[in-house]
Amino acid sequence: MKIRDSGMPDEPYWESLFDVPLILSRLGIDKFRDIAELGCGYGTFSVPVARAISGTLYTFDVEPEMVSRTKSRTAGLPVVCEQRDVFESGFGVKVDAILLFNILHCEKPVELLRHAANALQQGGEVLAIHWRYGDTPRGPVLEIRPRPEQIIDWADAAKLQAIGDVLELPPWHFGLRLSLL
Ligand SMILES: C[S@@+](CC[C@H](N)C(=O)[O-])C[C@H]1O[C@@H](n2cnc3c(N)ncnc32)[C@H](O)[C@@H]1O
Repeated sequence: MKIRDSGMPDEPYWESLFDVPLILSRLGIDKFRDIAELGCGYGTFSVPVARAISGTLYTFDVEPEMVSRTKSRTAGLPVVCEQRDVFESGFGVKVDAILLFNILHCEKPVELLRHAANALQQGGEVLAIHWRYGDTPRGPVLEIRPRPEQIIDWADAAKLQAIGDVLELPPWHFGLRLSLL
C-alpha cells in the first residue's frame, strides 16, 4: 500500500529543500555498515549514503519510476535497489541502520516502526527525519504531520527509544535517532 501523501514534486525542486550533507552528518551516517531505506524516491539520500558507508545500502520504493531513477544514479555503488512494498512485506534484511525519511506521516506509523525495529541488528539505529510542524514549503498537511514527541511515543510502542536530543536539520526538518529498548 502506497503511504498517503507520499507523492513527489519534480526532482530539482525536491532536492532544493534539504541540506543533505548537514543531515547525514548530524545523523552520524558514516559510522554504519549496512543500511536500509524506505523509500528511495529520486535517490536524494541514497547516493550520498551509499558513498559514506562501509557496507551496502538496501533501498526500496513502491513506485517503479523511483526505483529506476535511483538505480541509474547509484550504478557502480554498493546499492541494492528494488521495488518493494515495505509496509506489506517489511524490509527483508538485517542492517545496522534504517532510514525513515519524510515517511512517518503514514497511516500506521507504529506498524512501520515495528518493521524497522525487526530489521535492526543489535546496537543498530532507526534514523527518522521529518518536516518541522508549521509553515514549510512542502510536506504533508499539518493534520497528519508528526511532531518529534509523537514519533517518540510511537517508537515506544514499537519497543524503540530516542537516543539524545531532537536534531535540528535546517532549513525545514528535524531528526531523531532511535535504538532498540
Ligand atoms: C515523500 S517520498 C520520500 C523519499 C525519500 N525518502 C526522500 O526523503 O527523498 C516517499 C517515498 O516513499 C515511497 N513509498 C510510499 N509508500 C511506500 C511503501 N509502502 N513501500 C515502499 N515505498 C513507499 C513513495 O513512492 C516515495 O518515493
